[in-house]
Amino acid sequence: MEDKKIIFSGAQPSGKLTLGNYIGALKNWVALQDEYNCYYCIVDLHAITVPQEPKDLRKNSLEVLAKYIASGIDPEKNTLFIQSHVSAHTELSWVLNTISSMGELNRMTQFKEKSKKSEANLNAALYTYPVLMASDILLYQTDLVPVGEDQKQHLELARNLAQRFNTRYSETFKVPEPYIAKVGARIMSLQEPTKKMSKSDENENAYIGMIETADSIRRKVKRAVTDSIGIVKYSDEQPGVKNLINIYSNLSGKSIEEIENMYEGKGYGVFKDDTAEVIVEGLRPVREKYEDLLKNKDYLETIYAQGADKAERAAIKTLRKVYKKVGLIPRKFI
Ligand code: AMP
Ligand code: TRP
Repeated sequence: MEDKKIIFSGAQPSGKLTLGNYIGALKNWVALQDEYNCYYCIVDLHAITVPQEPKDLRKNSLEVLAKYIASGIDPEKNTLFIQSHVSAHTELSWVLNTISSMGELNRMTQFKEKSKKSEANLNAALYTYPVLMASDILLYQTDLVPVGEDQKQHLELARNLAQRFNTRYSETFKVPEPYIAKVGARIMSLQEPTKKMSKSDENENAYIGMIETADSIRRKVKRAVTDSIGIVKYSDEQPGVKNLINIYSNLSGKSIEEIENMYEGKGYGVFKDDTAEVIVEGLRPVREKYEDLLKNKDYLETIYAQGADKAERAAIKTLRKVYKKVGLIPRKFI
């Protein structure tokens, strides 16, 4: 375990995880768990950068943990924990804020987009969110961060902050690398296929939840926006069809060409019906395991309690180093 390279990633418990989260993140995490020492976090402190109903947040956090495990992430092999349980995350974040410039935070596209959407809720935490994310990653001396395409810019910031700190105060942080899978890094909205599939979309038809009934999956795929070209082809001019092919390919293991060939001369109807079945079957084992897990809250509690202990032991080492290097007097215990 000790000499394995380290992975850190996380998802926000801000709603229901989607098929985009599953394909773009969780499936990759599962594939990496044997080769790496992995920390998979439920980033609840990130989630509160937008208003959350407290009881929903509690429920969603536990559900995200169950979804991690149901996807095949083994709690024995990996460290699964809740961000707010390890206070080193916010502590490091304060220090990293002191070396982050407002200019670079102004350039973060996610912040720019979110601020356009809700002027009324432009809180300071939304602005410094990427610094907290950098802290998550850097605390564990992370080598690799598996994320979807949308997080690339945040990861670049984490790398810059690590390098800046190392230059200013001497070698302290490992500079992490992104790990972005080629296929499925960006699953798009079923209603506006030029936008990413997001759990916070107001239109429920735009996304498929990880735990959704077969009927609802079928209904949403049927309604998915395509085009009037009528040919099942993987092309940028047909973003809706391209997105469905990506999903189909990822979940079935069939190549894009194979799928194009299978539906040559057939219309979108059959293609959509089959895509829906591939999704239903792909998510079925996850859903079944998830339902079992939710019946066993004590088990989930044990997992996140053990996870926090393990994570804290690693995190505190880095935090102590950081505090010392910036000149804070170490606390004496009497
Ligand atoms: P979030 O739901 O924003 O906390 O994201 C958790 C993880 O899922 C991150 O690695 C994201 O990059 C990834 N992710 C979220 N939405 C999508 C999507 N539509 N396609 C691919 N990956 C995604
Ligand atoms: N910001 C990420 C997202 O919305 C979630 C996240 C928080 C994260 N901290 C992280 C992802 C650290 C990877 C590593 O998807």
